[in-house]
Amino acid sequence: MRSLIDILDFTTEELDELIAVANDIIENPVKYSEKCKGKKLATLFFEPSTRTRLSFEAAMLELGGSVLGFSEANSSSAAKGESVADTAKTISCYADIIAMRHPKEGAPLVAAQNASIPVINAGDGGHNHPTQTLADLLTISREKGGFENLTVGFCGDLKFGRTVHSLISALSRYSGLKFVLISPDELKLPSYIKKDVLKKRNIPYEQTTDLESVIGDLDILYMTRVQRERFFNEEDYLRLKDSYILEPRKLKNAKPDLSIMHPLPRVNEISVAVDDDPRACYFKQVLNGKYIRMALILKLLEEAGR
Ligand code: NCD
Repeated sequence: MRSLIDILDFTTEELDELIAVANDIIENPVKYSEKCKGKKLATLFFEPSTRTRLSFEAAMLELGGSVLGFSEANSSSAAKGESVADTAKTISCYADIIAMRHPKEGAPLVAAQNASIPVINAGDGGHNHPTQTLADLLTISREKGGFENLTVGFCGDLKFGRTVHSLISALSRYSGLKFVLISPDELKLPSYIKKDVLKKRNIPYEQTTDLESVIGDLDILYMTRVQRERFFNEEDYLRLKDSYILEPRKLKNAKPDLSIMHPLPRVNEISVAVDDDPRACYFKQVLNGKYIRMALILKLLEEAGR
């Protein structure tokens, strides 16, 4: 059964196809409005979410399907001690496809191994978030026309930010890329990603703590929130949370065609005054996320023969 657990589960050709379908949905929404009639998406969210869960639900509704699910662990049988494997087997009796978010790394993989329907990883702990990456890739492709020869800056919590991990993996398969990793020392990109992705593929990268000194080099600036829920110690969070605040004056040396991205939710790391800058793309990412999730649901249901 084909699932989406890690962005690398899909080839670059498959990602191109998903982007093409998403673009077609944007152009011709009516053509898709009954494609999932009679089909059900289960959203199993063991962790908070606004965009990811509601965009999955909106995606399925716009395909003519229906949705069921829960939005907090406490309202599911997980609170009684049920295993992820049993939950996955159970939901397979009710739905055609699952989107699951879980605080434990690897939980959606366990669900996929036990479900008889496709499972989509909607975020697992500080590990991966492949469908945010799909939204990011659609945005980059629409803003930049492709993925090659870009200098991409990631700024903020690169240690726990799962959207960063998945996007770096996805982009690492294209040529001519350079990454600029901007974070406090305590929140640097995990060394396993540097070793298994960046060094393995010989991708040039630089690490810095200073956003303003590198902003002029960037084609894309991907800002992130410091991931409070992954900290062991509130004092560390409070010390690090406002490490970077993007304000209009800091964009003085940025390229005129910079794309400013953020998976959202934002806390303080982008001032609202930046929202009116034509380079701000983060609300476009939200909308793109719905369209590419429609394309993903269609692909996985078709491959599952449902
Ligand atoms: C992200 C996540 O859940 O990892 N949010 C999202 O899905 N767009 C980013 C975040 O929570 O900081």
